[in-house]
Amino acid sequence: MSGGSASFTNAAQILRPPADGLPKLRGPQVPAQSLVPGGLTVRDGLIEALEPDPAGDLIIDASGCALVPGLIDCHTHLPFAGWRAGEYDEKVRGVPYEEISGSGGGIAASARALRDSPDDAVLAQAAGLAREMLAAGTTTFECKSGYGLSRHGELRALRLAQQLKRRVPATTTSTGLLAHAVPEGYSADGWMDEVEAMLPDVLALGSVSALDIFVESIAFSNTHLRRMGELAAGAGLALRCHVEQFATHRSVPVALSVGARSVDHLARIHPDDIGPLGAAQCAAVLLPGAEFLGAESRAPARELLAAGAILVLATDANPGTSPVFSLPLVIGLAVRLYGLSPREALAAVTLNAAWTLGLESDRGSIEPGKRADLVLFDTPVDQIAYRFGRNPVAITFIGGEPAYVREDQGWRLSGR
Ligand code: NIG
Ligand code: FE
Repeated sequence: MSGGSASFTNAAQILRPPADGLPKLRGPQVPAQSLVPGGLTVRDGLIEALEPDPAGDLIIDASGCALVPGLIDCHTHLPFAGWRAGEYDEKVRGVPYEEISGSGGGIAASARALRDSPDDAVLAQAAGLAREMLAAGTTTFECKSGYGLSRHGELRALRLAQQLKRRVPATTTSTGLLAHAVPEGYSADGWMDEVEAMLPDVLALGSVSALDIFVESIAFSNTHLRRMGELAAGAGLALRCHVEQFATHRSVPVALSVGARSVDHLARIHPDDIGPLGAAQCAAVLLPGAEFLGAESRAPARELLAAGAILVLATDANPGTSPVFSLPLVIGLAVRLYGLSPREALAAVTLNAAWTLGLESDRGSIEPGKRADLVLFDTPVDQIAYRFGRNPVAITFIGGEPAYVREDQGWRLSGR
């Protein structure tokens, strides 16, 4: 907000970290988050004080509501083109993802769709999805390339992500998922040579903050993961990775040895890898939408939490494994499938997700000096998962400004 102030009054719950200045929450810090009634003042787009200011330019009546940090979706595959509903139909009748992928579906199908879609159509679809995400409380999200499957295609996908950033009110980050599937005509090794060769062009875009790779029998191996980690380190980028989704490959120790910022999926993580991950400076990003819709194995979230892991939840929004864009829905799945508490689930879509994207210094928790990206739920937080599938978001604020107001919630705003 430019030069104005906003005052939140009478919230039933405000989610606060156990202390200010924490970069992420793990172990006993997670249950130590508090949910206290009260208010908040925002000035010039930042949280100024943990009490309301009756002289605020904008007054927000938060009675009965929970006020939490804007939700952060640190793993999405936006922007992409079209959908793959036909594959879902096959999947629910028992056809495995590997088989769908082997017969020209999966990532290759989305790559064809992207290649054949004009920029405007891709951006219009992604911007529409970003609007849905805003209405579900997402104020920051990650974009991945990965459906380019050629040097030209990957660079185009990364440029489309740059253009999307200018079209949406949310903050976006950009990850080069440069090794997602082995493009036709290449061996996996040969494609990694191409990745290395295109890296200067990727860096020249100036927008990419992380590299990513899919390790699976149908994609790349741990050797390629190590190489991607070395490329990321050499370029000063974070390493993210899709690992242990369909089968156990023992990719976690490899990812840790090359300093990965996160290991994502983990439905088939080896039990011996839970302890080291729990002690590492590496987030465990769980994607229950993909697990549920793909009838995948279930990531051992409670064991990871007990080991001290930096637990994160994300949508994995993509046209194949997880056409899911709502973090409240992901919270609902995670609470039921993993047995999470509301505080565990909320830390996983706020501060810990911010840390995964390297944005924890200015967002992800309600504390003075941070951005006033906030979500007002119209219920206490324990109803988010319980009233499964219902969108509890009343108002989403970006930089202190209402960026989404549900049609029956405008009465909460006054004073302008
Ligand atoms: O995160 N696992 C690899 N990549 C995506 C799926 C991509 C697709 O099916 O289009 C995922 O699940
Ligand atoms: Fe993914």
